[in-house]
Amino acid sequence: MPNKSSNKNLHRAGVAKNDEFYTQLADIENELKHYKDQFRGKVVFCNCDDPKESDFVKYFSRNFEHLGLKKLIATHYKDANLFTKESPYKLEYNGDKNDNRMPDPSEFMTEMIGTGDFRSEECINLLKEADIVVTNPPFSLFREYVAQLMEYKKKFLIIGNTNAMTYKEIFTLFKEDKIRTGYTNFNIGMFFMVPDNWELFHHIDKNGKKIARVSTSCWFTNLDVEKHKENVTLYKKYKPEEYPKYDNYDAGGFKKLAQLFDR
Ligand SMILES: C[S@@+](CC[C@H](N)C(=O)[O-])C[C@H]1O[C@@H](n2cnc3c(N)ncnc32)[C@H](O)[C@@H]1O
Repeated sequence: MPNKSSNKNLHRAGVAKNDEFYTQLADIENELKHYKDQFRGKVVFCNCDDPKESDFVKYFSRNFEHLGLKKLIATHYKDANLFTKESPYKLEYNGDKNDNRMPDPSEFMTEMIGTGDFRSEECINLLKEADIVVTNPPFSLFREYVAQLMEYKKKFLIIGNTNAMTYKEIFTLFKEDKIRTGYTNFNIGMFFMVPDNWELFHHIDKNGKKIARVSTSCWFTNLDVEKHKENVTLYKKYKPEEYPKYDNYDAGGFKKLAQLFDR
């Protein structure tokens, strides 16, 4: 039963540092179906993904042969603050060997040396090997995460908080056409699986998983997105007098608008 009153709280939770939102397979399939040609022969890296749990890993391993991937890598992060005996592990999958279209432990699992932090040397070495990074990284580390992708000049398709568009660093990338939104409507939010102990959620799905809505979440990418190549149909000529000037910014001037986002 939807718990409408929880939406506001969920939004707050999304804004606060809480990164335990797990992407649903259907959302991954709906976005990824548009990029099939761009994945042929590529090494895909999911660097915030427990290979045993992530639906990104499920999607790419099931579609490994169909997409013509060269390799799939995924790294599991072990939060140093959480007490668990399990060492973090990584997946390095080169395709199906026993015809079940799934990476079996015998085909892929290896332990990691470090914690699986995407910023660690171990993960950066894997990043260097990758062509395209695809994941839903922790929202709280989004700036750092995108900066690292830029530093290593990687193609990416990732989920983030829609408000990240207004971050100074990210807005600059939009202006330079180095990042764009994906195909999924960026204005309607997304539903994510959340841990069993979450008290605030939207509904429980047919598998008994708690699902929460994050109203500000969308896909960001530097892959080709056809809709962004289309010309916008213009129907008016720009006239300064038709665009208001507010106390804090000049709505008619793009430069001023950019400054508004400059925070
Ligand atoms: C928003 S969740 C998404 C998980 C998965 N990518 C998905 O979409 O289902 C972000 C994940 O990043 C992991 N994480 C947090 N800090 C990290 C870090 N510094 N390096 C790598 N992963 C991290 C968390 O454990 C969490 O599982």
